[in-house]
Amino acid sequence: MNNSSLSPLVLLHGFPLDNTLWQAQVNGLKDHTQVIAPDLRGFGRDAREVPDILSMDIFAQDLKELLDDRNLDQAHICGLSMGGYIAFEFLERWPDRVASLILANTRANADDEATLKARQETAMNAMERGMAVIARGMMPKLLTDGTRAEDPALAARVERMIARQAPESTAAASRGMALRKDRMQDLPEIHVPTTIITGDADVLMPLETSQAMADAIPGSTLVVLQNAAHLSNVEAPDAFNAAVAEHLQRCSATTH
Ligand code: MLT
Repeated sequence: MNNSSLSPLVLLHGFPLDNTLWQAQVNGLKDHTQVIAPDLRGFGRDAREVPDILSMDIFAQDLKELLDDRNLDQAHICGLSMGGYIAFEFLERWPDRVASLILANTRANADDEATLKARQETAMNAMERGMAVIARGMMPKLLTDGTRAEDPALAARVERMIARQAPESTAAASRGMALRKDRMQDLPEIHVPTTIITGDADVLMPLETSQAMADAIPGSTLVVLQNAAHLSNVEAPDAFNAAVAEHLQRCSATTH
């Protein structure tokens, strides 16, 4: 079966979050296609074993197993941030299983020295100081100042989402992200329909990183959501869902 219009949409959450990140997408996109939002290994309610390093390869293998278990030949893969790193890994290993890509608030380049050092600190802090400290420190980068001031309930929901994650998984995924490959040279070889979504206020993945991906991936579409930071799907859910729905429609038009 290679009819991408029949493929489900798999949503891969970012770090250190869980599948409730996608609440607005699970509800808002279910009329367009089947939506699958798994907890990644070690996060949310997932109970699988967590090694010291949660590499992007392990997450990608888990994704393959998920598709195999459900007898799905292909899926539209949407990854936010770390979810995008996993999507790149999955595409490299199982290109035939990818109907299309949505790369949200992510980047293709590997970490620089400062980020590698920050990853070590995050792993250490998660284990030694706990997840509440990690959550508090991350919040200013995840949602805009405006959203945090005007919608404290939403901000509290995101902060709680981080605070309840396991320190071991957070440390392991931080180590795993540090080891991920640079994907910039692979981008011109991506030949599945691709939409890149980002927020105009994402300081973790500045617009240039999304623009660079859009410039390099043939035929890709870049959507920049206004007044949205790193968790653009949470902060601008309607615009995010509209971009995904348009993407799915484009895929379906190409298939028919
Ligand atoms: C994420 O949201 O998944 C992280 O910001 C990714 C990263 O730290 O590179």
